[in-house]
Formats: sequence, structure tokens, C-alpha cells
Amino acid sequence: MLTIHTPKGVIRTEADTGKTLLSVLHDNGVFVDAPCGGNGTCGKCRVYVSGAVSPVTREERLRLTEAELASGLRLACRTFAQGDALVRLPEARAMEVETEGTGEQIEFCPAVRRYPLEVPSGSLDEQTDDMTRVLRALGERTGASASDENGGQVRFTPTLNALRRAPALLRSLDGKADAIVFRGKLLDLAAPGDPMLGMAVDIGTTTVAAYFYDLSDGAQLGVRSAMNPQRAFGADVISRIAASENGGLADEQRAITELLSGFARSFCAEQETSPERLYHITIAANTTMLHLLAGIDPKNIAAAPFLPASRFGFELRAEELGLAACPDAPVTLLPCVSAYVGADITAGMAAVGLDRPTEKTLYIDIGTNGEMAYADAERIVCCATAAGPAFEGAHIECGSGGVPGAIRGAVVGDGEIRLETIGGGKPTGICGSGLIDLVAALLEIEALDETGRLADEDELEPPYDACINDDGDFVLDAETGIRITAKDIREVQLAKAAIRAGICTLLDTVGETADTLDRLVVAGGFGAHIRPESACAIGLFPPQALSKYKTAGNAAGRGAVLALLNENAAGRMDSLARRCEYLELSGSQVFQDHYIEQMMFSEDE
Ligand code: FES
Repeated sequence: MLTIHTPKGVIRTEADTGKTLLSVLHDNGVFVDAPCGGNGTCGKCRVYVSGAVSPVTREERLRLTEAELASGLRLACRTFAQGDALVRLPEARAMEVETEGTGEQIEFCPAVRRYPLEVPSGSLDEQTDDMTRVLRALGERTGASASDENGGQVRFTPTLNALRRAPALLRSLDGKADAIVFRGKLLDLAAPGDPMLGMAVDIGTTTVAAYFYDLSDGAQLGVRSAMNPQRAFGADVISRIAASENGGLADEQRAITELLSGFARSFCAEQETSPERLYHITIAANTTMLHLLAGIDPKNIAAAPFLPASRFGFELRAEELGLAACPDAPVTLLPCVSAYVGADITAGMAAVGLDRPTEKTLYIDIGTNGEMAYADAERIVCCATAAGPAFEGAHIECGSGGVPGAIRGAVVGDGEIRLETIGGGKPTGICGSGLIDLVAALLEIEALDETGRLADEDELEPPYDACINDDGDFVLDAETGIRITAKDIREVQLAKAAIRAGICTLLDTVGETADTLDRLVVAGGFGAHIRPESACAIGLFPPQALSKYKTAGNAAGRGAVLALLNENAAGRMDSLARRCEYLELSGSQVFQDHYIEQMMFSEDE
């Protein structure tokens, strides 16, 4: 028997000796971060264990200190139950999710509309069925003729949900029901005063944000955010695809639909209404996340010629996706450009007006990959670089997401590196923005050279010489042991080289340079929190971009909101996706040459 203590309570389950604790926890719906997908290499799937379990493995000795092992800490992906055992999750730390987005003013004209009706009751003389009477009233109310026995034009069609609800509702409300309509479809009949709600969602590879709106007046009523529970299947899209091939597709789909349904239920409970009052859902996400949400096998995204099953840009029904909402509510899956330039980019670009740009703009979204687009009045060209998740804290020895205690900033001052942590306490890890600041700081104090080599103890002056430990790591906090290793530097070097080489190749392709650009717009939580000076100092962005730098926050989320509140926005994103020229970098010699050049940590152009 396995007893699992989670922040939400205790679960008891049969101990399956053939499964790792990580699998057992996932089977029981317990989320444990597993950026390496259970390969024993990231060291993040830590749980406290006591009782009959398998012996400590080599990977665990590499990833955990003696003191941690002695305290009962184990890697869940390397440990098997062998009888009665107890598992306890380390104290949960809520991740900060960027939910703020900036962009154009949104004109409120949603695709879902409400029409108060007065539907006459039937009689023995006029035995017209309920739905025909509703559609006639709706036709009169909107100035369009509804279907009738005399061959009138068919303008609206009912959903099964509306057909089922109409008889009881018409009779209980004496015909005074409101029609909820989406592009010619009668979604539902509601009582006057019932809310008409919508949810806009940004599914990131790491985090998920949902925004709830009143579709009657465009007021934002709530926001929900969480880490993407699919992180348990790996940190980046490639490991998620690999996990889906090993029989995990249904699990990955369930993880995300349960999260979104949970958001909907908790928000609607707070509003004292039912999730069935959610009448439209819009979703911005990268191409792989949309495949996983819809339960579509994404494997062809991972291998040349990188063909997704769909680039989306259409509606599915909430019920068929397993989402808690009005069963026939349209779920708009926003359009993607390619396998690696997804709807998060098209939505984000539309949110900042880049579907009709007037200035030469470079738009970059750095998440677990680096996606970017150049746009001017003539053309839009985009590409994606496999930067890896280093800037999200994965594959970094002391890396973490944006959780309390994570170092999110660092500056050199008064002969020391001053650390800024989320929440202000002792450092517990390093998140993406902190990593960039720290590399810039190490360059500034010459503890790191342009080639990415960390200095030895005897090459440094006090007090920095004392920061180098026996393994050659640079220790940032002696008490907690938070440090930067040579391997971390290598990860940053590879990620920054990929992104900067993507920028160079994109600008070469459109015949522009960093000097001729008008704007550099950086989207995502990462863009909102980094210091552009540090990003330029390590060579992530060209130095000329400093004065042109703008952050767009969660632009993808803002794009999903745009599509929810403005019926023309999804069409604008669709034409942007179709106009966008995709630049494939995987076989590009120009990209390769830039990549090698950009391995150096320097501020050069
Ligand atoms: Fe267990 Fe990465 S070490 S999931």
C-alpha cells in the first residue's frame, strides 16, 4: 500500500512494484514536475519517501546531496515501491504566471450574441413545434427570416442542446427566453438575467492562463493561471511528443482538459452559476499544445518534413473536447503558421497590431523555444529556433520556474553580485530572467570569458575567488549552495546562440539589420521580466535593439481575449497566418554559420 500526502489531502493506493513512483503519482492525478520526462537527468521530480522502496540509484546520487538523501528525498522517476511506503510532496510553491498583456484597444463586438425573444405559445389551432416558433421569433428579432413550412429562408439552426432545453424553458418563462447565438447557430435558450460568459485561454508549454469575460458587456470577471500539468511528461514540446508516442496521448489530453475544466468550474462557482453558461472559448497555443488538447497524434511535428495534422483556425465543440462549458459552445482553436510557429504567435502578433504593421518590427516570443517574426507593411516572415528550455529554468542545475525564492535578477554593485529573489527571501533557485542577469554579471566581473569558460579561483580577486567551489562552480549563496555550473553556462550559450542566430538569419532574409529595425517587441513572461541591458550584454539581442525594446507581456493571452471579444479577430489572425512566410532553419547554412558565430558571449553586432 502506498500512502501519498499531497497539499490537498491523503491518497491511498495499491503499490504497483513495476511502476516508478512518478508514474504512480501521475496515475493518481498528483502533479510532480518532471522536465526531463522521467529520464533521471533533471533532478526535479523530488519527493520525500519512507518505507519499503528500491535502493538509491546512481542518478539520484548525482542529483541529490548526502543530506538530501538522508532526509528521505528521492527522485520519483528512479524509485519503485516494494511494499508499504509513504510519499510526501515537498511544500508546493506556486509559480508566478505572466497574465498581463499589452496591445491594441479591443473593440467589443463578440461573435456570441444574445437576443431577448417573445415566443408565442402554440395552440390547438396552430400546432407549430417549439423550435420553429423560436426560430421565427429570432428571425423577426434580428430582421432575418427563419425557416418555416412555406419555404422561408433558413437563417438560424439549433444545436441539440438548444433543442433539448427549449420545451421546458419556454413553458417556465412564458416564452420570454433569450436566444444565445453564434454565427447562425442557436447555441442555447437562457432565462433573462442568466450570465453569458466566455473564456480566453493561453496554453503555454510551461504555464496556462485563462481569462473570463462577460460577453454581454466585455467586462473581465476573473483570471486563473497554473503550471501546465503536462510538464509531468517533459519540459519541452519534443519530450511531450515523445511521451504521447509511448501511450501518453490520452493522459496528456486529460491533463490539460481537466485543468481548463477546473478553471471553468471554480470560476463559475465563484459567480454562482453553472459552467454551462460559458458560450465561447478561444485558445492560443503552440501547434503541439493544440494537437494534445484535441487528442491528435502530434508525432509528425517532430520529424522532417515537420507536418502537423492541422494548422487549425476553426471551431470544435466544447463537449467533444471534454471541456466543462455549454456542450455546443464553440472552442476556437486559433490558427498556426507551421509545426513550430503556432497560434500563440499569430494571436500575439495580432494583439500588438502586427497583422497590419506600419513600422519595421521584430517580434520574439521566448519560451521553451524561440519563435520570432519580422513584419513591415509589405511582408511578414517568421521562423522558430530550437533554443531549448534553459530560459525556463529546465536543464539548469539550480534552475526553477518563477516561484517564490527564485533569483529573478542580479546586478554587480559595491564589490558583490546583488541577488533579487521573488518574494525577497533566501534564494531557492534561478529562473530565466535571473539566469541572464547572472551570466551578464559574471561577464562583468570577469568570472566568465567570451568563450563561456568560468574562471578558476586563482584567476579571481576577492571576494569573488571564494565563490568558486571544488567542482569549479560559481556559488551565489554559500548557505543554500545555489550556484551556476559550467554546464549551466553551456546551456545558456546554446540557447542564446540559437535565438540570436535566428534573429540574424531572419534579418538577412528580409534585407534588414538591427540598425534599420524600428521596434523589437518581446512577448511572454520572459520578455516582461528580463533586463534588456543584460540580454544585450550576453549577446541574446543586438545592442542596437536596446533603445527599440518593448515588452508585450502575455501577448498570446491578449490575442485569445481579442478573438473572444471581437468577432473579426480570428479572421485577422487567419489571414496573418496565411500571409506569413515561414523560414525553415533546420537545414539552413546561413543559420548554422550565425549559430557558430553567436556562441560567443559578446555584445558585438
Ligand atoms: Fe525525474 Fe527528471 S529526474 S523527471
